[in-house]
Amino acid sequence: MDASPTLADTWRASRPGRIPNVPALPRRPLVGNALEFRKDRLALQARLADLGPIARFHMGPLAVHAIADAALAQAVLVDQADAFMKSRGLAVFAKPLLGEGLLTSEGLDHRRARKLLAPAFAAKRIAGYATVMAAEAARTAAAWNHGASIDLAEAMMEMTLAIAGRTLFDADVRGDARAVGAALTDAMQAMLDGLTSPLQVPYAWPIPRHQRMRKAVAELDRIVYRIIGDRRASGGDRGDVLSMLLVAKDDDGSGLSDKQVRDEVMTLLLAGHETTANLLTWTFYALGAHPEVRARLEAEVDALGGQPPTADDLPRLPYTLAVLEETMRLWPPAYTVGRTALRDVTIGGHALAKGAAVMINIHAMHRRPDYFPDPLRFDPDRMTPEAKKARPKGAYLPFGAGPRVCIGNHFALMEAQLCVAAIVQQARPVLRDTAAPVPEPMITLRPKGGLPVRIHRRVRGEA
Ligand code: HEM
Repeated sequence: MDASPTLADTWRASRPGRIPNVPALPRRPLVGNALEFRKDRLALQARLADLGPIARFHMGPLAVHAIADAALAQAVLVDQADAFMKSRGLAVFAKPLLGEGLLTSEGLDHRRARKLLAPAFAAKRIAGYATVMAAEAARTAAAWNHGASIDLAEAMMEMTLAIAGRTLFDADVRGDARAVGAALTDAMQAMLDGLTSPLQVPYAWPIPRHQRMRKAVAELDRIVYRIIGDRRASGGDRGDVLSMLLVAKDDDGSGLSDKQVRDEVMTLLLAGHETTANLLTWTFYALGAHPEVRARLEAEVDALGGQPPTADDLPRLPYTLAVLEETMRLWPPAYTVGRTALRDVTIGGHALAKGAAVMINIHAMHRRPDYFPDPLRFDPDRMTPEAKKARPKGAYLPFGAGPRVCIGNHFALMEAQLCVAAIVQQARPVLRDTAAPVPEPMITLRPKGGLPVRIHRRVRGEA
């Protein structure tokens, strides 16, 4: 196997003569485009897509090749996936929190982790999570009073964390939710600061962002190891992901250590809750801004009857699913994914050297008028099975693609469909601000300042 590319390889791959001949953004000496990247990353991504299917920008001396083209994205993520690893940035900055879990592992370790986790995400298993998901959403909406002003973004974050807690470790983490939520937010902020900081130093150095990360990780470890310890002591299949991890066996028959279980749990907690919360928040923004879409969705939900939705109801919620998918087109929670070339490789005629950094520019690709005519218009009818078939493969990538496609994609869609339905049965969040929220590209794409809404309690059939 090729030795993993080092930072020196990425530097070498950025030198004239080694970089492919693709358009590049004008850059400043030394810093390159790092300041624009920090200031307005989505604007930078849009400018890159305007330059062409593949275009280059620079983080300091390092070149990054941004792809906003379906065929090229398909080549990197799927057809030639074995020539790439995930971006080194993620591995370096996420490791203190996620250890060697599925998201941060590579090569054989990744294949092994994927195989161990797959049963926990099998269709049959996740159908068992539906009751928990719908019940949490119904409980969340039931607590809202008519006329109350709330931040929907915060409410969705708390709700998806509670769902992650119960489906991952059948634990009512609402008790711990505040501590877990605060620690995860601190850890993610420290991770993002690290990713975008011009000051790149080893994690062992006691600078403030590393200390913040250490404190957050210690708090999360305390909670997660306690839950693992309790479960090892009690045993049995509680129908959650943790039960599957504790009985999972490798090919050589060995089980996972507490540390391995901890890394996977932390990975799923991080990868699963904030992405889905952001999807739900943007969905309620879109529903608030498009009354005709909202009315059609409410009618579909009302046709289920008044009971909280179940997994069996999912085929009866196709429009709700299309609304969610269209929301992820305009506001993809994972707005880019990164890769590093493991060896010299040619993609669509462009020669990338070992170490070359690649960014799949998902946000901009989802707004290409040739893939999505009149791209800024919110139109769930773009997501009918026929419309999907007519688009080139690789043009719509909210969950990525290939061997590293989101393992939680069905879980997330099911959760979002059930949560929207369960909430809409009881309430209509009305936007307090008619201006569209400003997207804030953190680790995932959030609405800046949350989503202030006023709650209108609704009854079934109410137009
Ligand atoms: C709307 C919600 C979600 C979105 C938009 C999303 C998006 C993504 C994307 C784009 C990737 C691929 C990253 C890459 O190729 O580099 C990914 C990977 C992953 N996601 Fe999700 N995700 C969501 C929900 C979830 C949920 C609910 C879980 C778990 C409960 C989860 C767990 C993971 C894991 C573990 C990986 C790494 C997979 C691997 O590397 O093999 N995600 N996700």
